Amino acid sequence: MKTNSTQLHNLRGFIPGLEISEQPEILESHGQDWTRFRKPDALAVAFPRDSEQVQKLAVYASENRLALVPSGGRTGLSGGAVAASGELVVSFDRMRKILEFNSVDRAVRVEPGVVTATVQSFAEEKNLFYPVSFASEGSSQMGGNIATNAGGIRVLRYGLTRDWVCGLKVVTGSGELLDCNRGLIKNASGFDFRHLFIGSEGTLGMVVEATLQFTDPPLPGKVLLLGVANLDALMNVFEVLRTRLDLSAFEFLTDLSLHYVCKGQELNPPLDTECPIFVVAEFDCPGEAEEDRAMECFGICLENNWVLDGVISQSEQQNRDLWRYREGISEAITHLRPYKNDLSVRISVVPEFLRQMDQLLKQLCPDFDVLWYGHIGDGNLHMNIIGPPELNAEEFEKRSHEISGQTYALTQSLGGSISAEHGIGLLKQPWLDKVRSPAEIEFMRGIKDIFDPAGIMNPGKLL
Ligand code: MLT
Ligand code: ZN
Repeated sequence: MKTNSTQLHNLRGFIPGLEISEQPEILESHGQDWTRFRKPDALAVAFPRDSEQVQKLAVYASENRLALVPSGGRTGLSGGAVAASGELVVSFDRMRKILEFNSVDRAVRVEPGVVTATVQSFAEEKNLFYPVSFASEGSSQMGGNIATNAGGIRVLRYGLTRDWVCGLKVVTGSGELLDCNRGLIKNASGFDFRHLFIGSEGTLGMVVEATLQFTDPPLPGKVLLLGVANLDALMNVFEVLRTRLDLSAFEFLTDLSLHYVCKGQELNPPLDTECPIFVVAEFDCPGEAEEDRAMECFGICLENNWVLDGVISQSEQQNRDLWRYREGISEAITHLRPYKNDLSVRISVVPEFLRQMDQLLKQLCPDFDVLWYGHIGDGNLHMNIIGPPELNAEEFEKRSHEISGQTYALTQSLGGSISAEHGIGLLKQPWLDKVRSPAEIEFMRGIKDIFDPAGIMNPGKLL
């Protein structure tokens, strides 16, 4: 049995020049993500500078049975980047280069530590667009986005991270470097390993480079914030807007979520009328004709009593202001340590799902505040549970776990998923069998064994 210091001493000898930190504040910051339910306890944090160092790290780790936790911007919400059992964290903070842009391919090659917002601004400089967008884009890194197949607010139109990765270099758990798909648009040459690694949550290997596809910038957009009368009306409003407008986002929040975001972000309520549900939708609006169409939609929704009140943005600044009611929720409640859930069902099932969930939660936890918000146009609903202040953290987690057992069973019965875009990580792992069959889980384990035979990649996460 090697002691920690022998392990690190040998590793330093095996990869001369590899930066390894054992500083307590680095272990604390890099041993966890935005999930705050596990105490970090990392052995050390390695900061490789290139794919060669990552390869050597994987070889050393698999030969010495040293568990690795890949770590990006650490904005994850399922504990996928938490090192709570003496693992070596592999941070990509020193691999932040934009390597190459090709204007004919409209694609960029980047290292995994490049921040999402940097990719977006780079695309903008080239008069192009990288469309994956979410609240943590200022800190999240591309490697992490790929590992979790990050989604966000524009999935409705543009899809998930998976749809924008046309090439992927990975180092497997056994130290092989795979160059998957090489930026090709068409490549019918057998299994596409790229898609296995996207969304695998660091359990098969580590992303060391990605080629990302850019697209045309969207037309100027406007934002509608609508107060909706009830759950059934919500789907009617969606139908009216999506058949008449070029929607790029259709998001929702409940009145309780609005209360918390207004309090946490010091915002005034957006509408004078009290409403149970609010929609924030964005649509292409290059001219008056599109704005008139939006007003027509508003009229139809008012006439049918689906919408009680609403506002439409009149400037870029107002776009941003209206988005804050939706995008600011997560940040506004972080200090309350919510128990986060990231559920999805087919869009047509959303009203029934919310109704049944509401009933169940009233029985299970009438003393908790349950905030619903999310990407309802994709059937992706974030359920955030906040406990009463007198309940200690341990008791709150225990009760939240009990609630999860029941809410996930309901999600399963309606054909949904317990993770839409945050990943399974450490926190949702006990319930994987609610959404994947025994056969599927067995196949997943078999695939992991192929790429990571020593089982060193992010153990305890996902599988
Ligand atoms: C969001 O949509 O706001 C994010 O996924 C974060 C969250 O669930 O709070
Ligand atoms: Zn989300």
